[in-house]
Amino acid sequence: MSEEIVIPSPADFHVHVRQGKMCELVTPQVAKGGVRTAYVMPNLVPPLTSTDAVLSYKAELERIDPSVQWLMTLYLHTDVTPDVVRKAADAGIYGIKVYPQGLTTNSDSGVKDYEAYYPVFQAMEENNMVLNLHGEVSSDAEKNISVLNAEVHFLSHLKKIATDFPKLRIVLEHATTAAAIEAVSSLPANVACTITAHHLYLTIDDVPSQPHHFCKPVAKEPKDRKALQDAIKSGNPKFFLGSDSAPHPLSSKIPNLTDDGSVSACAAGVYTSPILIPLVATLLESFGALDKLAGFVSENGRKFYGVPAGENQELKLKRTGNGKEDGLVKGTFKGEGVEVLPFWTGKKLGWEIVN
Ligand code: NCD
Ligand code: ZN
Repeated sequence: MSEEIVIPSPADFHVHVRQGKMCELVTPQVAKGGVRTAYVMPNLVPPLTSTDAVLSYKAELERIDPSVQWLMTLYLHTDVTPDVVRKAADAGIYGIKVYPQGLTTNSDSGVKDYEAYYPVFQAMEENNMVLNLHGEVSSDAEKNISVLNAEVHFLSHLKKIATDFPKLRIVLEHATTAAAIEAVSSLPANVACTITAHHLYLTIDDVPSQPHHFCKPVAKEPKDRKALQDAIKSGNPKFFLGSDSAPHPLSSKIPNLTDDGSVSACAAGVYTSPILIPLVATLLESFGALDKLAGFVSENGRKFYGVPAGENQELKLKRTGNGKEDGLVKGTFKGEGVEVLPFWTGKKLGWEIVN
């Protein structure tokens, strides 16, 4: 068994780094987790719906950590017109993220009707921008739609958009089901898919007892987890890492009695940035896919997005030793007035970063 691995510059093609004090706390953790290129989500308050807002957010991230290449996205919204798309593309913004309305964190101004945005998708296709899809539909008791099958019900939208815009690059974000893997595999090469680290480990059984495992989309059944693992094992370049690392203050993850006497809801999101690449290595090894690590975290996504690895940006990992605390993840991270708990707290990682 090898004791050291060197992989080309890792990239995380879906990460939330927030704003304000939380941003100051979590942004430096992206590089600590082994990531050199980060594709940043726009679901801030207010959402990033203009090129200027995205560029000033980018400048803020560069101020906090200039060592990471920050790739930026816009939030799809009625303010985002074909003209805005052209301006964004000219400014070097890579993609536009679609949040179905009301379905996840900060998605109140998200999308209800995909066809209403066809002129925007057309401008994106013409300007070579990437469409990033949060692939779930809203729960609907009449139609028996819940968080358990919300992704499967979304796949008809994915297929329709891909058929109607054959040259548009589309990423189905954070796939959690065997059906999603199958759908992406069957579509042409311009349709790809991110997979998170936590969905390679969790199943729905891990979620009800543990708010820190609650995220959107929720983890599904063991057969679905196996399909995600098999997609990576296959080496198919359509599948690459997008951590969906989504930090929330500890207080928002734990239901609290509020001032008006009601109980607050648990925020959706799993936080993996600080341990990301060692965690992915540990998980891939657990299901016999360590030889696919470089493809999954460094090569496939870069190729799809056309973002080559920089020189001298390799990441070296070594196996953790047998010391009592070696590889142990010890939560929490504390900043000024904020505290977040990382995934894998209390468990040991099999790999650690050398450089
Ligand atoms: C994300 C967040 O907190 O911003 N939450 C999550 O559960 N994944 C939003 C998202 O990507 O859906
Ligand atoms: Zn996300």
